[in-house]
Amino acid sequence: MDIHASGQPALDAEADHLLIFATKDDDMLEGGALRQLNDALDGGLAPLAASGELSGAVNETVVVHSFGKTTAPRVVIVGLGPAERMGLDEIRHAAATGGRKARSLASGTLAVSVDGEECGLSAEEIAGAIAEGLDMGLYRFDRHQAPKQTPNVLERVTLHSDSVDAVEAGIAAGRSLAGAANFARDLANEPSNLLTPTELASRAEAWAGQHDVEIEVMDEAAAAELGMGSFLGVAKGSHQPARFLILRHRGGADEPGLGYCGKGITFDTGGISIKPAANMEAMKQDMSGAAAVVASMGAIADLKLPINVTALAPCTENMPGGNAIKPGDLLTAMNGATIEVINTDAEGRLVLADALSYANHLGLSPLIDVATLTGAAAVALGDVATAVMANDDDLAAEVIAAGKVAGEKFWQLPMFDEYDEQLRSQVADVKNTGGRLAGAITAAKFLQRFAGETPWAHLDMAGTDDAAKTRGTQVKGASGVPVRSLVRFAEARAAAGAS
Ligand code: BES
Ligand code: MN
Ligand code: ZN
Repeated sequence: MDIHASGQPALDAEADHLLIFATKDDDMLEGGALRQLNDALDGGLAPLAASGELSGAVNETVVVHSFGKTTAPRVVIVGLGPAERMGLDEIRHAAATGGRKARSLASGTLAVSVDGEECGLSAEEIAGAIAEGLDMGLYRFDRHQAPKQTPNVLERVTLHSDSVDAVEAGIAAGRSLAGAANFARDLANEPSNLLTPTELASRAEAWAGQHDVEIEVMDEAAAAELGMGSFLGVAKGSHQPARFLILRHRGGADEPGLGYCGKGITFDTGGISIKPAANMEAMKQDMSGAAAVVASMGAIADLKLPINVTALAPCTENMPGGNAIKPGDLLTAMNGATIEVINTDAEGRLVLADALSYANHLGLSPLIDVATLTGAAAVALGDVATAVMANDDDLAAEVIAAGKVAGEKFWQLPMFDEYDEQLRSQVADVKNTGGRLAGAITAAKFLQRFAGETPWAHLDMAGTDDAAKTRGTQVKGASGVPVRSLVRFAEARAAAGAS
């Protein structure tokens, strides 16, 4: 899909559909593009507004035929909600909803009016939100399905505004963010027989190549050389060779910079502590954390953020092979800590233990790890918010703030010292599970030992990695969370002068 700026008035655009946003206000027809449309239609929208059919409510979609009164034959009007609550995320969702509506009506070309500047947003920001929303909302994972006989594809979108250069800049930024989220979705949606650790590594290499990101792929021998006994312990149960990915963006001064670590379990059977069959197919997405950190590097590089960022992704299957680790086994992580494996299904923390140890070895700071780590996080926050746990409350607040800019929700859980007691082992420095209570927190408490003194935040996305239904920018399936927050976090750090 092609998205470009145009200085022509939207109402004069040659397109199959026009897309106009409406705020939920009594005087909604009095300003902006909706007023122009109403004038062009000789007041034809007034009865719709009077009857409540057109109210501007969030998600409301009204399709109007213009019977020759505008160049485009049809107009899609999408609600943004009340003007005082309107922000960039409302625009993203409305653009996504409107884009999908137009596509479902076999629209090949769409003209969008960029307005809303009276709400204190710049044309660049609004255009960015529209482009990001369209790319996110129009996402489809259909590569393994026979082509539809009438494939609905939006081929060309024009964003109409007087500020053509600002709109082009916004489009580029919005598409980088959405493109990264969609790449993460593609990886997470891919079945695990097709996306092995080796294949994940080669797709990451291709992605890095396209975005001018450095990449290094460690094999098991290299990981063994570094002493990654915890990561390699998980890998032992699988015939698929494990891979440890390292991606670097160098945009800042000569210091290590930020470290992002993502859990890359390409399939989680649970290992010897095997999972029940129901819903086990969802565990093909247990590499969503790795996908997110790898994908975010593409947008960070596109945006040329003046900061150094390194992404680390330990990737392996968790399988119950003959060589698999067993409950009671002892592993030694790269930082020298010994781990008693109580449950082989608590494998995410085992692979992240070595990723965090390695991040510390590289001197990266602060650290953010991203993982589909515990069912407990999903029970606590559902598919709405990602759990944040940190050894530094200021860092947690920064993550939450980056999420607000990105349009992704986070909620902090506590890290009181008392929770550490649940991880005490009789034979090792720590055990890998802490019982049923506070499962998301005890998993974070386990990871905290490997983050050490470095400022660190842990994002448990077990509930948010998948969207149950299509709504706004979310499309049923892998969510692409928290790619855009990771990019916005690096952006905020770079703007604050970190390197
Ligand atoms: N990958 C799972 C967590 C998960 C569950 C993600 C559901 C998405 C949806 C993780 O490896 C796991 O199995 N965690 C266990 C930990 C337990 C054994 C301490 C869990 O949450 O049950
Ligand atoms: Mn597991
Ligand atoms: Zn897992």
